[in-house]
Amino acid sequence: MVTFILNNEQVSTAKPTGSSLLDFIRYDMGLTGTKTGCREGDCGACTVLAGTLTGNTVIYRSAVSCLMPLGNAHGKHIVTIEGINTGHLSHIQQAMADQGAIQCGFCTPGVVMSLVAESTSYRKTTRDSAIASTGGNICRCTGYKSIERAAEAISAFLGDKEITDPVRWLIERKQLPEYFLAIPERLAIIQATEPPPEQAEHTKHGKHPEEHGMRLRIAGGTDLMVQKADALAESGIVTLSERKDLKGIKTEAGRCVIGASVTISEAGESETLNHYFPEISSCIRLIASEHVRNMATVAGNIVNASPIGDISIILLALNADVTIEGDLKTRILPLRDLFLGYKKLDLSPEEFIRSVSFEYNPASALFSFEKVSRRTHLDIASVNSAIQLRMAGDTIAECHLSAGGVGPVPLYMRQTSAFLTGRPVSAESLMLANEIMQEEASPISDARGSEGYKRLLLRQLLIAHFMKLFPDKIKPDIGQL
Ligand SMILES: Cc1cc2nc3c(=O)[nH]c(=O)nc-3n(C[C@H](O)[C@H](O)[C@H](O)COP(=O)(O)OP(=O)(O)OC[C@H]3O[C@@H](n4cnc5c(N)ncnc54)[C@H](O)[C@@H]3O)c2cc1C
Ligand code: FES
Ligand code: FES
Repeated sequence: MVTFILNNEQVSTAKPTGSSLLDFIRYDMGLTGTKTGCREGDCGACTVLAGTLTGNTVIYRSAVSCLMPLGNAHGKHIVTIEGINTGHLSHIQQAMADQGAIQCGFCTPGVVMSLVAESTSYRKTTRDSAIASTGGNICRCTGYKSIERAAEAISAFLGDKEITDPVRWLIERKQLPEYFLAIPERLAIIQATEPPPEQAEHTKHGKHPEEHGMRLRIAGGTDLMVQKADALAESGIVTLSERKDLKGIKTEAGRCVIGASVTISEAGESETLNHYFPEISSCIRLIASEHVRNMATVAGNIVNASPIGDISIILLALNADVTIEGDLKTRILPLRDLFLGYKKLDLSPEEFIRSVSFEYNPASALFSFEKVSRRTHLDIASVNSAIQLRMAGDTIAECHLSAGGVGPVPLYMRQTSAFLTGRPVSAESLMLANEIMQEEASPISDARGSEGYKRLLLRQLLIAHFMKLFPDKIKPDIGQL
């Protein structure tokens, strides 16, 4: 059984754990405020809050319920637009009305829930963060300016939000109903008494469910729920998303170790990761929307093996290793050796990724990530690329270059990286490196651009890395390239 709190009601269901939370909310529970739009995580009409008990508090994040498998809701507090009613309009709802941010109203519950998620966050809300929180909500009517004005008004109201206890602060101001106060205690009881559904299956059959060949491993669901929605609607899953042993980011023997089920949002907010790798927050803002980043995991991005997976491209340039666990042994593999061919990995069915690790010293390393997509935000790349350099004076002592969208897998550019190692930073080095890089790449023409366009982007991104990292050295010479 999947058991969770939906608004103010504890619910238990035996529906397939791979079916979508959205369908459960609308068709089983009759809560039709949450809308069905694209069913692919793009429009945000189905946005809800997913609250996870962490210590004694609940951390709420926005989530697209169309891509959340029901099994991932177990033990959580799921809040729909109906669950924030207090008998009067909240500041968010009033601001939306005042600013003319509602026309047909189809997107409105999703927009409101995104702003509620921002309000409940344990961080200061600014105008920019309030607007960014709605980045995954598409509105076909308003032209967005009125929604931005509403977000701006909310950020002013939240100016003195108590970031150590935002939920209580909001309740005291009658912005959330009082039942939220008892949620941590109620979730703790569920966690203590209701085993997650796949554990129940494990006990029933006496061995791991996947041995029955009937269940898929799923983490955030943002890839599988798009690719296999129909099959999953009828089946059970083995969820990895809340496994505590796959969570967390730590430093171990001089390496930064990221648990497989760390979400992209958690990675961006991690103090450890930001200390190690200060560029992480700006890189992550270019990936998907906040709703999707709140669900999508690091390992999911690697294992879906998309040739343009941003996390894979970043980790390749960080020269990361993956720790892979099987039934009998654990092995460590350089990430670049995991990708064997299009959607083909050196990972057997019984193996899974436990963690990813890399060594990075911001004092001696330089890093750059570049992504070109049709839109800056909420779009996958046409071509993306990352580079890590260690310098010895003016010479490149170590180079790790990666590129996506230019081959069947996220590419670690072995020959180009080897070529640049030992070379001075100059326009000539880049010109020669580009020739090698073009040999290593094999882009194809598709909806994201022609082969020629992608080759041009690849070259431009190499130049962009060096212009960013060595503005004095490369800019004057750029005409030679
Ligand atoms: C609207 C939208 C926008 C997106 N934008 C971007 C973008 O800009 N950039 C980008 O890179 N991606 C983007 N994506 C893709 C998304 O980031 C990835 O799909 C995500 O990281 C996958 O993680 P997940 O946990 O949701 O994967 P899931 O769907 O849960 O799983 C994906 C695959 O990984 C496997 N898996 C998961 N964890 C493990 C593990 N520990 N060990 C072994 N196998 C595992 C699953 O079995 C499955 O095969 C977007 C997706 C959506 C829906
Ligand atoms: S229905 Fe569009 S994001 Fe869920
Ligand atoms: S008001 Fe119609 S879609 Fe936003």
